[in-house]
Amino acid sequence: MADAYVHGYHRRENERLQDQAGALVELLHSDTAYPSGSTVLEVGCGVGAQTVTLAQRSPAARFTSIDISASSLAEAKQRIDAAGITNVELRQADIFSLPFDAGSFDHVFVCFVLEHLSRPLEALSILKGMLRPGGTITVIEGDHGSAYFHPQSPAADAAIQTLVELQRRTGGDALIGRQLYPLLVEAGFDAVQVSPRMVYVDSSRPDLVDGFTRKTFTAMVEGVRDSTISAGLISAEMFDAGIRDLHRTAEGDGVFCYTFFKGVATRS
Ligand SMILES: C[S@@+](CC[C@H](N)C(=O)[O-])C[C@H]1O[C@@H](n2cnc3c(N)ncnc32)[C@H](O)[C@@H]1O
Repeated sequence: MADAYVHGYHRRENERLQDQAGALVELLHSDTAYPSGSTVLEVGCGVGAQTVTLAQRSPAARFTSIDISASSLAEAKQRIDAAGITNVELRQADIFSLPFDAGSFDHVFVCFVLEHLSRPLEALSILKGMLRPGGTITVIEGDHGSAYFHPQSPAADAAIQTLVELQRRTGGDALIGRQLYPLLVEAGFDAVQVSPRMVYVDSSRPDLVDGFTRKTFTAMVEGVRDSTISAGLISAEMFDAGIRDLHRTAEGDGVFCYTFFKGVATRS
């Protein structure tokens, strides 16, 4: 049984994932490339936001991209076909019951998925089993505790905290980025290396102001408005003030910072 997915599967969320991928490609993917002929299992590919980048950057590798959501996979297929990509096979599958033989992949790639799972350690152990000896795993996760900004805003902090709490109640963990190193070590991987990838946004970087501060982070918090208010986690007034203040950080004198964490490790 899949864990509930806190962001839902609506069009706006899918567009958010696309904007997120566009703005962050270099920061997150510049050091990921897979050799010719290698096999890569992409887990939780969603609408294919990372898949297109991965496949274009490693055109001679063969990707198998899985997700539990049929509707997301249908969008991923459109996106991949539109980009003329031919080295990706999409399959509907659950991380916790994968239809592949043990040791059948050279590499595993996971991005923004562990944060939604109630058993991330078990997921990593399963994914380790999918790798041949010497194969690698790459995991990228955010950490909402890493968001800070100017001007400061207790209302914005409170709105973000409700997203963290909502995700916790649905079995996920929005603070998982900082845990990648211990999780990968505990799952039995070797040569674990985690690097923080900080997004720093001020008005001299208008693409990031729009693509990250507004359309990625603020849109993500805004997306839980109804659920967080109906769960009684915050008043509508406080939440809306928090969202206004997050938009305020995208103005000329505003600054926004957020850190992603990228872990790479090996199966011995
Ligand atoms: C935030 S999205 C990330 C999508 C994509 N990796 C990206 O970075 O744009 C998380 C994805 O994980 C998928 N997912 C959640 N639980 C899963 C499970 N147990 N098995 C497979 N996919 C799962 C969801 O359906 C969703 O598409």
